[in-house]
This record gives sequence, C-alpha cells and structure tokens, in this order.
Amino acid sequence: MSVQPSFAYFSCCHLCLLVVLALFHLSLSNQNPHRVLCIDTERQALLEFKHALIDETKQLASWVAEDKECCTWAGIGCDNSTGHVLWVHLPGLDGHCHSQNYYDTEKEYEEASKQRLKGDISSSLLDLKQLKHLDLSCNDFGGIQVPKFIGSLQNLRYLNLSKSNFGGIIPPQLGNLSELHVLSLGSFHHSVMNIQWLSSLGMLHHLDMSGVNLSKATDWLQVINTLPSLVQLHLSSCELSNIHPYVPSLNLTSLSLLDLSFNNFHSFVPEWLFSITSLVYLDLTWCHFHGRVPSGIRSFRNLTSLELLHVAKNDFMNSSLVLKELSGSNLVSLDISSCGVSSSRLDSLRNVTSLVSLELSGNELTKSLPKSLGDICNLREIDLSRH
Ligand SMILES: *[C@@H]1O[C@H](CO)[C@@H](O)[C@H](O)[C@H]1NC(C)=O
Ligand SMILES: *[C@@H]1O[C@H](CO)[C@@H](O)[C@H](O)[C@H]1NC(C)=O
Ligand SMILES: *[C@@H]1O[C@H](CO)[C@@H](O)[C@H](O)[C@H]1NC(C)=O
Ligand SMILES: *[C@@H]1O[C@H](CO)[C@@H](O)[C@H](O)[C@H]1NC(C)=O
Ligand SMILES: *[C@@H]1O[C@H](CO)[C@@H](O)[C@H](O)[C@H]1NC(C)=O
Ligand SMILES: *[C@@H]1O[C@H](CO)[C@@H](O)[C@H](O)[C@H]1NC(C)=O
Ligand SMILES: *[C@@H]1O[C@H](CO)[C@@H](O)[C@H](O)[C@H]1NC(C)=O
Ligand SMILES: *[C@@H]1O[C@H](CO)[C@@H](O)[C@H](O)[C@H]1NC(C)=O
Repeated sequence: MSVQPSFAYFSCCHLCLLVVLALFHLSLSNQNPHRVLCIDTERQALLEFKHALIDETKQLASWVAEDKECCTWAGIGCDNSTGHVLWVHLPGLDGHCHSQNYYDTEKEYEEASKQRLKGDISSSLLDLKQLKHLDLSCNDFGGIQVPKFIGSLQNLRYLNLSKSNFGGIIPPQLGNLSELHVLSLGSFHHSVMNIQWLSSLGMLHHLDMSGVNLSKATDWLQVINTLPSLVQLHLSSCELSNIHPYVPSLNLTSLSLLDLSFNNFHSFVPEWLFSITSLVYLDLTWCHFHGRVPSGIRSFRNLTSLELLHVAKNDFMNSSLVLKELSGSNLVSLDISSCGVSSSRLDSLRNVTSLVSLELSGNELTKSLPKSLGDICNLREIDLSRH
C-alpha cells in the first residue's frame, strides 16, 4: 500500500533533480570562459586612457593588457550582445567629494585626494564608438579645460564632470551632444562666455551648472527656455544677477526642481516663476528678491505640487499676504530664515499641516510663537536660532 506513493514521490524528486542538473549544465555552457566580449580596439583605447591618468590608489588595477575581457574591468559596462563599451563610470571617492574644510585634518584631506584620478584625459575615448555614459566626476584634473573632443562622443546620454577641478571655458562643442539627457558640470572654476550651445541639447532632462560663472551669459533664461524637456535645473552660485521679469511664453512645463540659490538678483520676484506649476522643489536661498510678489493672477497658490520651498534671505517673504498664499499647500519643508518675518505673521502657516521641517532662524521673532503652530502634527523640526 505504502510503496506506490513513496515511489511516486521518489520519481518526482528524481525528475526535479534531473531538471536542475540540466539547467546547471546549460548555464555552465553559457558562461564559456573563453568567449570574450570586449572589442580589441576599444580595449586598446581604454588602456591608452588609463596610461594618461594618474591613479595613486590603483583603482584601475583590473585594467591590464594581459586581460582580454575589458568588459569586466572596474567602472566599465558593455553591451552584452555586441561587446561595445557603453559605460565608463569612474567617479572619485564613489561620488562623495567635499572641499578641504569638510575634513578634520590635513592628513584626512590628503588621503581623500589620493583617491581622485589625476592627469590627462586621452582622446582615445573617441574609439569607444557607442559610449553612452561618461562619469569622471569628483576627480582632480588640476584646472585643465574640459577637452573639446568630448563634444564628438555623439552617442553620449549622460555626461558628469562635476567637481573634477576643470578650469577655463566650457567648450561650446558640447552642444554637438544632441542625445544628451544628463549634463552635470557643477564645479568651482569653470566659466562660460555664452551658453547658446546649450539650446542644441533638446533632449536634456537634467542640467547642473552650479558654481559655473555665468555672469557674462546674460541670455541664460532665453537659452534655458529652449529646453522643453528639462526636469531638473541646478544653477546655484552662478553669479547670475539679471533675471527677466516677464517671459511671454514659458517652455519649462516639465520642470520639477529649480535651484537658483546664492545668486544676487536684487530685483522683484519674476512672475513667470509662478506659472511653472510642475515645480516640486524650489530653492531661492540668498537670491535677494525683494519688494512685492505679483498679486492676482499668479502666486504661490498656483504651485500646487510644491513640497520644498527654501527662500532664506529674501525680503519678499515678510509680507503676510505671501505667507497666507502658502496656506493649504502641501509643503513638507519650508525655510524662511532671515526673511524679516515677525511672530504674528506665522499664524498664516497653521493650515500647512503637511509641514515636517520649518526653518525660522534670523527672523524678528520677538513675541512667543503663535499657539496655532502646535496644531501642525507632522512638524518634527523648528529651527529658531538667531544667526
Ligand atoms: C551585461 O551582463 C551583466 C551580467 O549579467 C549585467 O550585470 C549587465 O547589466 C549587462 N549589461 C547590459 C548593458 O545589459
Ligand atoms: C554627478 O556626479 C556627482 C558627484 O559624483 C553626483 O553627486 C551627482 O549626483 C551626479 N549627477 C547626476 C545627475 O547623476
Ligand atoms: C561641433 O561644434 C562646433 C562648435 O559649436 C561646430 O563648429 C562643429 O561644426 C560641430 N561639429 C559637428 C560634427 O557637429
Ligand atoms: C566671473 O566672471 C566675471 C566676468 O568674466 C568676472 O568679472 C568675475 O570676477 C568672475 N567671478 C569670479 C568669482 O571669478
Ligand atoms: C520652446 O521650445 C521649442 C522647442 O525647442 C522651440 O522651438 C521654441 O522656440 C521655444 N520657445 C521659446 C519661447 O523659446
Ligand atoms: C492661479 O490660481 C488662481 C486661483 O488661486 C486662479 O484663479 C488663476 O487662474 C491661476 N493662474 C494661473 C496662471 O494658472
Ligand atoms: C519687508 O522688508 C523690507 C526690507 O527690509 C521692508 O522695506 C518692508 O517694509 C518689509 N515689509 C513688511 C510688510 O514688513
Ligand atoms: C485655515 O483653514 C480654515 C478652515 O479651512 C479657514 O477658515 C482659515 O481661514 C484658514 N486660515 C488661514 C490662515 O488660511
């Protein structure tokens, strides 16, 4: 009686084992160790590229002439069917680079500096015919100019040269990279005469030029307005001082992040800002916008998706009208430090029940805070310190 079921059990198990063995065998034969993906000219190009770099901590130790399979080298990604190199991803310090005063000691800073690639960028990269992604951010190229030939890497979708100590003028040849989705050039030493070339980058989603000296690019807003796909725009600390108060037709309908912090506009808040209804993050810290906010047709009320609003050091926030406009919004983080706001005006914030973080330092908070702020049950942080 008991033989039948246990036999069935055994044979079922046996079958399973066979299937597993067969699959295992199949997967072994797929991973034929002799099949090399890497294309030889591209391997040579990478070796040349390595040769021009200074790599003090041997990050590129896997890049050796004896190894034919460059697709497994550190930072390299290939198309698995054609073998072409698609990715060169070599951010220094894994992308966590900081300026010297971040480090406690000189020694720590020097240790960190060693982990940044230095030297030259070889034009052998041009032999990587299908390169889509180039990340050399957080390295230290000693103030050299961004090489013009990068503008000929026609298939690039992603280019990140942020914080890599490039200097001089950003080459307008980058305008030839018409497939680019992400362009990150945030740094300290660049400058540009004009940014007209940016308008050829119609696919751009993400643009970061923070810290680039754009004081000569007086047409920056017109140029940015030709990039309808932009989702993130980072223009912090760009020495911008002029901002057009009125733009007849604004193209930036997908923009969700706008960072204009640490520029010196010293003007009225431009009205077009309130027509970008897709905005989720708006950073106007230290922009010195003053005077009235355009009342009437457009205001903060129209920015219904806004979750983060950082406007420290802008006088226009001191009016109770402006704070009232935030009532009923979905703000999570609000920074109105050094805006000349008085305690009584804060009552307007009681209906912003989504607030989690509220920065109030450096304001004229003489009386006690309105009790109504205590009704905002999500609030975790209030900073009241005097600067
Ligand atoms: C190639 O295959 C590896 C290993 O299976 C995988 O990690 C990698 O993402 C693949 N690359 C591409 C571009 O598909
Ligand atoms: C560019 O690189 C920096 C530093 O590695 C990194 O913080 C940043 O997120 C990168 N930008 C994009 C858009 O990936
Ligand atoms: C690349 O850009 C430069 C300067 O903008 C231009 O003169 C040149 O014709 C462009 N080359 C190609 C191949 O588009
Ligand atoms: C930015 O560029 C302008 C014009 O080229 C120059 O006058 C100014 O000194 C630069 N700013 C910095 C901080 O280098
Ligand atoms: C808006 O973008 C389109 C497409 O890039 C462009 O043709 C048009 O001139 C832009 N409008 C303005 C006002 O720049
Ligand atoms: C802004 O919002 C108000 C209502 O708060 C509405 O009447 C007005 O039409 C909106 N303006 C725009 C440009 O969407
Ligand atoms: C806001 O601040 C500006 C500059 O300090 C001042 O001139 C203005 O009177 C203030 N407005 C209000 C309503 O307090
Ligand atoms: C807060 O909401 C209540 C009820 O919706 C409303 O009566 C009141 O005017 C609002 N307060 C402010 C400051 O907007």
